[in-house]
Amino acid sequence: MNIIICPTAEAASLRAADMITEAVRKRPETVLGLATGSTPTLLYKALIQAHRDGLDFSRVRTFNLDEYHGLAPDHPQSYRRFMEEQLFNHLNLDLANTHVPDGLAKDVAAHCAAYEAEIKAAGGIDIQVLGIGSNGHIGFNEPASSLVSRTRLVALTQQTISDNARFFDAADEVPRHAISMGIGTILEAKRCIMLCFGEHKAKAVRAAIEGGVSQFTPASALQMHPDTTVFLDEAAAADLELKEYYRWSAANQPA
Ligand code: GLP
Repeated sequence: MNIIICPTAEAASLRAADMITEAVRKRPETVLGLATGSTPTLLYKALIQAHRDGLDFSRVRTFNLDEYHGLAPDHPQSYRRFMEEQLFNHLNLDLANTHVPDGLAKDVAAHCAAYEAEIKAAGGIDIQVLGIGSNGHIGFNEPASSLVSRTRLVALTQQTISDNARFFDAADEVPRHAISMGIGTILEAKRCIMLCFGEHKAKAVRAAIEGGVSQFTPASALQMHPDTTVFLDEAAAADLELKEYYRWSAANQPA
């Protein structure tokens, strides 16, 4: 893992945006894996700015990590709606090239298999953007998710339901299930970028980066990925034992 500690979430998001814009410039049909939550919003703002400055997204294809089960795509709290508001509507993406699991899929297993097949048909994900849950989840792969899991229906933990209740009028409105890419799906992305901001993430960050690889901390599976960069702000990096080494290493990259 390449660990980059930045003074602020803004600075970290700009660094992550640079990786994405460089990839899109080099290969206009780049396949992006995208995440929701409050963490990537600054990154998405930076991508919107890059588009205003001339970057073409018309051939980019996107696949989102997850969607709440039972929410229609136009539900105010659906992840499809979130993506449209935070990113898709502000870029010149072809909406037909954007993919978010369908929370209303009748045959969920068939829908999940088709989602995996669409990722494969697109040539796989070039860059997967990830946040981390306060319990170490990635996507909606909660603790105890198999490290080789594929896209499927998952039950959310009480922790995730209460973390995400802030987006809903009441905690009992938070769906109890979601469709999520699996950890095995995520690990097949050619490159992963994980963003972690705030002191409430510090414990999960330490477990993911410096703990053992364990289904108990799904984000720790990224230790097995050959090209993962983790962007942290100071608060999220606070508990890392080798913090100073990561700083030194980032500042002294071989030429
Ligand atoms: C959500 C999403 C994750 C996200 C995480 C953190 O439940 N399924 O993809 O990374 O929780 O959310 P936030 O960025 O709001 O802290």
